[in-house]
Amino acid sequence: MHRFQLRTTLCYGPEALGELSGLSGRRVLIVTDGFMVSTPLMARVRDQLGDAIVEVFDQVQPNPDINAVTAGLRAYNAFDPQAVLAIGGGSAIDTAKVVRKLAIEQGRHAESGFFILPTTSGTGSEVSSYAVVTDHKSHAKLPLESSDMVADVAILDPEAVRTAPPRLTADSGMDAISHAVEAYVGKGHNDFSDALAEKSLRLAHQYLVRSFLDGDDMEAREHQHTAATMAGIAFENSSLGIVHGLSHSIGGSFRVAHGRLNGILLPHVIAFNAGELGFAPSGLTPTARRYAALAAALGLTAASQRNLVPALCEWIKKLRRDLEMPASITEAGVNRSEYVAAIPRIAQQAAGDYCTSGNPVPAGTEQLAAILTAIA
Ligand SMILES: [Fe+2]
Repeated sequence: MHRFQLRTTLCYGPEALGELSGLSGRRVLIVTDGFMVSTPLMARVRDQLGDAIVEVFDQVQPNPDINAVTAGLRAYNAFDPQAVLAIGGGSAIDTAKVVRKLAIEQGRHAESGFFILPTTSGTGSEVSSYAVVTDHKSHAKLPLESSDMVADVAILDPEAVRTAPPRLTADSGMDAISHAVEAYVGKGHNDFSDALAEKSLRLAHQYLVRSFLDGDDMEAREHQHTAATMAGIAFENSSLGIVHGLSHSIGGSFRVAHGRLNGILLPHVIAFNAGELGFAPSGLTPTARRYAALAAALGLTAASQRNLVPALCEWIKKLRRDLEMPASITEAGVNRSEYVAAIPRIAQQAAGDYCTSGNPVPAGTEQLAAILTAIA
């Protein structure tokens, strides 16, 4: 018996923000960052909230750590909200999720619900039960998982991503693509997650570069936003893999955007998982067949089925170029010798990462170190 969980109500498309008017008259805690507070989006949110009593916790930091979460919990306890509304990218959403989970553990449940309004198209955090908290001391990114962290309502309004700058659009878009690809081949893949991963990639194929080139292209923004959420539902109900295991571990030590790291890692991880693209003499490995099927679903063509796997890698590399993203860690601005020196530690950390266990092919410290070396 398997389970496919659909718990979050998705309000999507233009005017999806209108859903917030249902919170009028309630005590609403908004969790966001200092920048967001003075944006036109926040003014629109407040407008929709009508006569709600609003408290804003705006101390969200990039890569939230335990201190940021503790500060959020203090704000929660002081205000005692009926609803929590997270507004922002992964950091704001993850902070709100962990704060809510801790509040529930203390018996303080905001009964009017948990709302998430993402301002980037990528993390999938609005539909997942995961949050990542950084431990600055050990350089570890700790993924937490709990059903208490699942949103009741995700508001996918393209207006909320309209002002995301091109760099952020590219990074979060590549994150979404890595979610779809990893979910498709991950150990937990199933017919439902496959469908969402395929459709997510087809939408990204059509709309990601358009969103990057023209942030005001609202048709592209809307579909790229749904693509990211679809990829989120896919991985929530399948698994991720070593792109994320490695990316979490590198990101704990070096300041490179998560999606940018994923874009660097993806072609190397596909090559590794597919069997170094050489394949067994008996034909494609089961995982290579999955990648080939995904390439075919994307409409990519090749002379033979086995050539569909490199075609998928080439598709990602071309997308990376079109999005002006780096192809290696050094191109991403990391000091080469510092990075090389850290590889053994990062490989060890990645081997223990939660996402690594979902990878379709077993990957130990040695194999992970080889991939880390290849992307230098
Ligand atoms: Fe991710």
